Amino acid sequence: YKRITTKTLVDMKKKGEKISMLTAYDFTMAKIVDSAGIDVILVGDSASNVMAGHETTLPITLDQMIYHAASVVRGIERSLVVVDLPFGSYQSDPKEALRSAIRIMKESGGHAVKLEGGKEVKESIKRILNAGIPVMGHLGLTPQSIYKFGTYTVRAKEEEEAEKLIEDAILLEKTGCFAIVLEKVPAKLAQQVAEKISIPVIGIGAGNGVDGQVLVTHDMLGMTHEFNPRFLRRYLDLYSDMKNAFSQYSNDVKSGDFPNDSEQY
Ligand code: KIV
Ligand code: NA
Repeated sequence: YKRITTKTLVDMKKKGEKISMLTAYDFTMAKIVDSAGIDVILVGDSASNVMAGHETTLPITLDQMIYHAASVVRGIERSLVVVDLPFGSYQSDPKEALRSAIRIMKESGGHAVKLEGGKEVKESIKRILNAGIPVMGHLGLTPQSIYKFGTYTVRAKEEEEAEKLIEDAILLEKTGCFAIVLEKVPAKLAQQVAEKISIPVIGIGAGNGVDGQVLVTHDMLGMTHEFNPRFLRRYLDLYSDMKNAFSQYSNDVKSGDFPNDSEQY
C-alpha cells in the first residue's frame, strides 16, 4: 500500500491481513516508525504520561495534542495518522466534540481522530463523522475514565461489562467508526468482538484473535522501564542503552577525551 487510508484498514481486515499500529508524539520518532512500514501512527494522549510525565492522561490539552500531531504529520509519508481527542475536549456536548475534531484536522493535518467510549459518545461521533472526519473508537480499559475504574486492571471480566462492551462495539460500527481500539480485555472476548463486527479491532492487551496490535512506542523500545504489564513485549532495552551512552559521553567530556583532534575545526 502506497498510503494507508481508513479504507485500506477495512480492506486489510477483509483479507485477513493484520494491522500494525504504534504511537508517536514527535517528528523524529514518526519518521522512523513510518519508514518501518507501520500502518497506523497513533498520536495518543499517552503523551501526557510519556512526554509530559503526568500520572494520567487527563491533564493533556487539545493545544498540546495538536502540537504533537502536527510534528508527527511532518514526519510521515505512508502511515495513517490518528489523533486522540484529549479528556475534556469532547465529553460535554457533540458540538464541542466536533469543534475539537475540526481543530485537530485543520491545525495538525492528521487523518482521523480517536475518542474513548461507546453509547455515551454516540452523538459526538455522529457529528464528527457528518463533517467528514473519520473516527476510531476505543473500548475496554479507557484511561480517561481511570478515576471511575479506580485501577488499570483488565476490564470486562464479568458478564455484564462484557455484554455492554459487545453492544458498544456493534454500536460504534453502526455509527460509522472505521476501526476500534480494544484495551486490556480477555482475549476470548476480544476475539468475539472482532468476529462480530466488520471494522478492524486493534488490540492492546487484548490477545491474538483481533485484527491488529498497538503498543506505546516508548514502552516497546524499553525507554520506559517501570511499566511492566503482561501484554508488553520489549524489542529493545533503550533505557539501559541510552543511560550507558549518556554516562560514556559524560565520562568522555570530563576526561577531556571528547572532542578529539578529528572532531574539531
Ligand atoms: O494513548 C494511547 O497511547 C492509546 C493507546 C494505548 C491505544 O490510546
Ligand atoms: Na489514548
